Amino acid sequence: MNTPRLTVIGTGYLGATHAICMAVLGFEVLGVDVDQAKIDRLASGEVPFFEPGLPELLAKALESGRLRFTTSFQEAAEFGDVHFICVGTPQKKGSHAADMTYVDASVTALAAHLTRKALVVGKSTVPVGTAARLTALVKELAPAGDEIELAWNPEFLREGFAVEDTMKPDRLVFGVSSAWAEEQLRAAFEPVLAQDVPVKVTDLATAELVKVAANSFLATKISYINAMAEVCEATGADVSDLAEALAYDTRIGGRFLRPGLGFGGGCLPKDIRAFMARAEELGVGQAVGFLREIDGINQRRRSRTVDLVTELAGGDVKGKKIAALGAAFKPNSDDIRDAPALDVASTLHRMGAEVTVFDPAAMDNAKRVHPELTYGENALDAAAGADVVVLLTEWTEFREIDPAAMAAVVGTTAIVDGRHALEPSEWRAAGWEYRALGRP
Ligand SMILES: NC(=O)c1ccc[n+]([C@@H]2O[C@H](COP(=O)([O-])OP(=O)(O)OC[C@H]3O[C@@H](n4cnc5c(N)ncnc54)[C@H](O)[C@@H]3O)[C@@H](O)[C@H]2O)c1
Repeated sequence: MNTPRLTVIGTGYLGATHAICMAVLGFEVLGVDVDQAKIDRLASGEVPFFEPGLPELLAKALESGRLRFTTSFQEAAEFGDVHFICVGTPQKKGSHAADMTYVDASVTALAAHLTRKALVVGKSTVPVGTAARLTALVKELAPAGDEIELAWNPEFLREGFAVEDTMKPDRLVFGVSSAWAEEQLRAAFEPVLAQDVPVKVTDLATAELVKVAANSFLATKISYINAMAEVCEATGADVSDLAEALAYDTRIGGRFLRPGLGFGGGCLPKDIRAFMARAEELGVGQAVGFLREIDGINQRRRSRTVDLVTELAGGDVKGKKIAALGAAFKPNSDDIRDAPALDVASTLHRMGAEVTVFDPAAMDNAKRVHPELTYGENALDAAAGADVVVLLTEWTEFREIDPAAMAAVVGTTAIVDGRHALEPSEWRAAGWEYRALGRP
């Protein structure tokens, strides 16, 4: 079968990565976005966000001549055989549900120009039932009508590892409603499948559900160990030792069992909320009612971190200098969507503290959204004169801080390790009062 030409609609964290990697793998790719500035930056060889390895691959893809960018849906429809929908599905304002405005707008804009047989493939994370709804919409709007098919191919990439997760994912999931759609998807992932990546072919609804089920499981595992941390705090037990002992059990495993400040970002929090909202609509809200508790445990870690900082500051942070290490929702990313780090930093600021933030990659994003906070040049600069240092994102460069060097610049040697990233004995030996959630 012929190699399909691909379009990638929505060139954010997911779409830009997908477009670039697919071009590097040998496909002709057209990236499409409504954001002209983003398209211009990508076309000129600049990745508009931090993702290790991606700038090099963008240069390679542009040089090959196989990757181009546009804001024209007409051009996209004329060019592509397989169209990947990668636009955002954020949490709707004032509700737990997903905001489907961008998915609906992009599919509508594309469909209007589809005059020949093509496959539209959703990659965005969506409420179950979306693919069925969009199938009807596309068939109604597209000049090619019933010739257009829809499929769902949920994306599991992790920011920070987006390139390797795209080039060689743990698995691919193809939600399809015909053999032709499966054939198209197999062709559109041929070089990935050639590396023996497992593929699960299923129906549209199951494919949509796999993504939210996976994220719900991961969120549950994180909140589970953080719930244990709450119990440890009440008993003087050590959640780090507890987690390590649990992890030896191969039925449990150690991944996502790290206690700390909890999850954030543009996926887990909004995905579990949207799942609850959708389950309610379907009359099975009770089945995922536990996710409310998972969300609650996660939110409490943020307020408990603020409490620990306050405790170390002597009971009141008003007028105290706090050094906040980290802003991104996780290391190796500049993504600050629902970032626990910035939530804690801005709460401390609202309580009257003088908060100085440093993050290796997310400074521009943080300054844009939180201009009220002060920003340092590096970790030691942020810590100058601090009454309390709080580690909020576990970047390697923070793990490698020399406790003696930091002790030399702070006002008081007091640190809250919000990510269980530091070795307590080393910090205590250097004269620090070291505290972490769930540890004595
Ligand atoms: N970021 C991740 O790690 C990740 C991982 C797996 C799944 N996802 C899912 O992928 C989807 C996209 O996430 P993201 O992080 O890339 O979001 P993002 O906000 O970084 O990117 C979305 C892009 O879509 C563009 N867009 C908006 N409306 C458009 C339209 N009508 N037509 C064309 N483009 C439009 C925006 O300009 C933006 O560039 C979400 O559903 C998310 O849940 C994300």
